[in-house]
Amino acid sequence: MTTTTHLPAVAVIGAGMMGATLARLLLDGGYTVTVWNRTTEKTVSLVAAGAHAAADPARAIQQAEIVVVCVHDYQATMEIFNYPGVSAALDGKLIIQLTSGSPQEAAGIESWSHQQGAQYIDGAIQAGPSQMGRPDTPILVSGAATAYERALPLLQAFGGGLSWLGEKVSLAAAMDLATLSYIYGTTLGFFHGIRVVESAGLPVDHFGELVAGIAPSFGEFLQHQGNVVHSGDYSISQSPLSISVDAVERILQQAREAGINDEFPRYAASLFRRAAAAGYNNQEVAAVVKVLRSESLQSQ
Ligand SMILES: NC(=O)c1ccc[n+]([C@@H]2O[C@H](COP(=O)([O-])OP(=O)(O)OC[C@H]3O[C@@H](n4cnc5c(N)ncnc54)[C@H](OP(=O)(O)O)[C@@H]3O)[C@@H](O)[C@H]2O)c1
Repeated sequence: MTTTTHLPAVAVIGAGMMGATLARLLLDGGYTVTVWNRTTEKTVSLVAAGAHAAADPARAIQQAEIVVVCVHDYQATMEIFNYPGVSAALDGKLIIQLTSGSPQEAAGIESWSHQQGAQYIDGAIQAGPSQMGRPDTPILVSGAATAYERALPLLQAFGGGLSWLGEKVSLAAAMDLATLSYIYGTTLGFFHGIRVVESAGLPVDHFGELVAGIAPSFGEFLQHQGNVVHSGDYSISQSPLSISVDAVERILQQAREAGINDEFPRYAASLFRRAAAAGYNNQEVAAVVKVLRSESLQSQ
């Protein structure tokens, strides 16, 4: 005798590049999917693949037990939630928010959702559309454990690399911004590196190849620096701060000698100089974090 698992009906709100990918993964997983997108043409291919299209978000949500939202930002989410009939339709439903947003916005939407009688879970996708649905696709999630348990089977259709960070709903958005900070910091450094390479007449594609090779060991290095900060023990274990102070000064010197843009090394040098001036030269390089903690410089 075979047992059939009950798959909840799902509404997918947003059929942009990521929303459409999520809808397709749910269809592949055997879910009944109703989609709504502000621009209706974007739902045509999903309907051809087996989804139902709703005329407005309230009707999509009425058809579903679980509501997946993946639109541009939280402001768009709230605009959609304010459509006629949506609030009433959300009662008893589980909202899985996979739109990127800020921690404070996540807390605000959770609170609003609870007022409508809905459960809410907040997620941050850390992959592109073509990387979704893989066993290791990373997705950060936070929110009430009961909501997470209800969302889990469906989230697993989106990716196997799920990290539930805790009950506090803002945690996924915060961790997403922390990893994005790392990515953009590295990306800007890479772009400055391209200017160094160009100014030296070297091939940029070889530089990219070298960076790809360094990436795994650099990841290990950063993980170690994170452990140093977590332990609070900054005694030298891998790399003294003084080495980085000298290195960024050399990067700045090269930029000035070659006459290329020096914004990136100027920022880095300023930070490392302040760490050296604070007496951290003979500590692990992670001691820079102590400078960041002691100063709360904010742009106007
Ligand atoms: N694509 C990625 O690589 C990626 C990776 C990780 C996370 N994400 C996140 O996933 C979310 C969606 O990204 P995406 O790539 O799907 O973006 P996208 O292709 O630009 O789609 C944006 C979606 O938001 C909708 N939208 C925007 N403003 C709206 C409004 N005021 N009212 C109603 N709907 C509105 C759009 O509707 P229309 O079609 O009518 O314009 C469309 O469905 C974003 O928060 C993004 O940060 C994306």
